[in-house]
Amino acid sequence: MVQLAKGLEGVVVADTALSHIDGENGRLIYCGYEIADLAHGASFEEVAHLLWLGHLPNRADLAEFRSRLAGHRPVPGAVIDTLRALPTTAEPMDVLRTGVSALAASRHAPGPASVEHALSLTATMPTIVAAFDRLRRGLKPIEPRADLSHAANYLYLLSGEAPSDQRTRALDTYLILTADHGLNASTFTARVIASTLSDMGSSIVGAIGALKGPLHGGAPALVLDMLRSIGKPENAEAWLTAALDRGDRLMGFGHRVYKAEDPRSKVLRALAERTSEIDFFRLAVRVEDLALQMLHERKPDRRLYTNVEFYSAAVMHGVGLPDDLFTPTFAASRVVGWTAHVLEQLKDNRLIRPAAEYVGPTGLTFIPVDRR
Ligand code: ACO
Repeated sequence: MVQLAKGLEGVVVADTALSHIDGENGRLIYCGYEIADLAHGASFEEVAHLLWLGHLPNRADLAEFRSRLAGHRPVPGAVIDTLRALPTTAEPMDVLRTGVSALAASRHAPGPASVEHALSLTATMPTIVAAFDRLRRGLKPIEPRADLSHAANYLYLLSGEAPSDQRTRALDTYLILTADHGLNASTFTARVIASTLSDMGSSIVGAIGALKGPLHGGAPALVLDMLRSIGKPENAEAWLTAALDRGDRLMGFGHRVYKAEDPRSKVLRALAERTSEIDFFRLAVRVEDLALQMLHERKPDRRLYTNVEFYSAAVMHGVGLPDDLFTPTFAASRVVGWTAHVLEQLKDNRLIRPAAEYVGPTGLTFIPVDRR
């Protein structure tokens, strides 16, 4: 008897030592460390080191690691030419997927997937996203700076100006919070591709495609659309009632695993308070309060809370990112988790190949094409 698990809910397909989600109690750990401790005390680079190498770096290791990462930031001219050939109206997630594919083809690295491949893919994501953003604004892409942190270099590549410490720290914290999250849809995609012994670039291209959907990483810009459409706190109740009466899903609420508040939301809410305009923040808080109340009344057995996307939208907006770069920025962070999972998969690989229950007809009589 094979049991069908729609959406693979609750199915365990791998061991991982990377991150653990305790959905009942709203806890998330990376390699043993509480997410809030890392968000408050570490940098994105330290977290990447932790996820790829299994331990936090000391000061000397970190300096060497930062410089290796920075060394990978420039992309070959062929990649920029590929971006230039795309319409300026293209969706940035489609552009990122294409750019990473072009990078993997032009910087083909032989041999098994390694931390060096992970460094290269992670370092170049901001270069690709920012180059396209500048091209579509009629500006020339600029060269990455090796003296800036990963987050600061990203903001610099977009605007051409070194960002303030406050903006850099806000983005850095966001990147830490979203670097890994168990076997979510995009990470699973990356692991499935790795399990065929394909290259790491292919895993990341596939993962970008999976992240793009609104049920996964595509939600933050839709959260902002919702908040803009509500406009002011007085409109929230009527707007949310109408949306729920229509059967719409509220973007930024609900999660497959969390049945308590997502610990990342708590950190992001506090960060949003510091980075966004006060009226915008008040609106977000009002919408969260009302939506939670209404969802609880309508689905008392579901335990729905805000997910990571709700306040991510406010933080990224506050940092000054355009709405359609929210999901590519999520990808620029999650690439650390994707690549860490690829390395982990390959340590003890077995082809991932689940089964489907056949529900179609049997015994049909074949009729040649000219007699059909
Ligand atoms: N708004 C309204 N109702 C909701 C929401 C929501 N955001 N989320 C879940 N529900 C309801 C569903 O209607 C469903 O009720 P029903 O069984 O009576 O139809 C019930 O709660 C359970 O929903 P499921 O679909 O079983 O939950 P699932 O685990 O499959 O979905 C998901 C999780 C996809 C995140 C869902 O909550 C959702 O669609 N949220 C909105 C989109 C979103 O915020 N996406 C970002 C996710 S976070 C991330 O990936 C980084």
